[in-house]
Amino acid sequence: MTIPNSQPSQINGFGTRAVHVGSEPNAETGAVIPPISLSTTYKQDGVGNHKGYEYSRSGNPNRDALETTLASLEAGGAYAIAFSSGSATTATIVQAVGPNAHVLSVNDVYGGTFRYFKRVASETQGLESTFLDFENADDDAILAAFQPNTKLVWIESPTNPTLRVVDIPRIVSLARSQPSRPFVVVDNTFLSPFYQSPLLLGADVVIHSLTKYINGHSDVVMGAAILPPHHAALSQTLRFLQNAHGAIPSPYDCWLVQRGTKTLHLRMKAHGVNALQVAQALERSPWVDEVIYPGLPSHPRNTVAYRQLAPHAKRFVDGLQDGQEDQGGFPCATRLFTLAESLGGVESLAELPAQMTHATIPEAERAMLGIGDNLIRLSVGVEETEDLVRDVEQALEAAVAGGVKRKNGNAY
Ligand SMILES: Cc1ncc(COP(=O)(O)O)c(C=O)c1O
Repeated sequence: MTIPNSQPSQINGFGTRAVHVGSEPNAETGAVIPPISLSTTYKQDGVGNHKGYEYSRSGNPNRDALETTLASLEAGGAYAIAFSSGSATTATIVQAVGPNAHVLSVNDVYGGTFRYFKRVASETQGLESTFLDFENADDDAILAAFQPNTKLVWIESPTNPTLRVVDIPRIVSLARSQPSRPFVVVDNTFLSPFYQSPLLLGADVVIHSLTKYINGHSDVVMGAAILPPHHAALSQTLRFLQNAHGAIPSPYDCWLVQRGTKTLHLRMKAHGVNALQVAQALERSPWVDEVIYPGLPSHPRNTVAYRQLAPHAKRFVDGLQDGQEDQGGFPCATRLFTLAESLGGVESLAELPAQMTHATIPEAERAMLGIGDNLIRLSVGVEETEDLVRDVEQALEAAVAGGVKRKNGNAY
């Protein structure tokens, strides 16, 4: 039997659940923080008579604890399964739909997901894939892309790196009209459970690269899938596959992610405050062609992004717009916008997708997706707002003084 990690009725707020759920004081020692359980095997008092653990690939106390936390934080979630990476999570979900299936995916999907669909699952299990602009395609165009073997619909919103915003309930309702009953998967890595709750918008599965905001400290690679109460069978299949191929996270990594998760709500608020200020500063700059940030009114899907915010996040964002949010008191870091891949850590990062994270996507496809050579992706950390704003302004001035020219004559 598959036991849910979390009960659906949750009376406490997000931050309280982040700190407490899955992290109860140890019953034997009273330790407030769970110990790291490194044992790979567990004593049985008689054959099959054990305390819930036999062998650590199949289950481990730290993994269980983290899964309980994740199922509680992803609103509408009941089952959470932690994997060794976000990519392993994707691969396992694709395996779960079996041979010769078809996936209908948002076109601006994470590069590694694109690679897995097109270059791995196509070879190993005959997966067919179609990539569509879910943001702009009308209903007829999307309906025409479904096939009798469409078993998966893959959404990322906002997408990486061009931050397109998909109307999740619209895609869910189109998928529900299909006789093949595809599962709708939402990769919620970019907003985290703090800002967006896709299961409440009708999705069947939410996945995360925990490597990003949920862990938040750029020191663990991990992933997770979270499913609602009515998907016990699918969650059991995912667990079975995971145990069979062994893409499990280590106890120490689970412990670290659980520690990171305790401050997710604080960090996400700080990221939100800082990202808005940096985006506004960039928009004011004469040296920037375009700023793509769903929180700006200039973003074409700003209202959809707002509508899809989790209720507590909406209250927070409203406070930001009214200028009520206290912008002080967050930790101050000294490393600003390091040139590096990844995102979602406490430190600010900058990267060039065309040459770094998305270099494996063919140039012509990148051009179609709007990933130009001059696109810079910023992951805004939780350093002091004024320092970050000053940093991007100074960097722009320095680039201009250095005489680096764009094709259109502007400097970058
Ligand atoms: C949106 C998104 N999904 C999935 C992944 C894959 O996660 P991981 O790097 O943990 O395998 C990434 C990695 O950057 C990502 O950005």
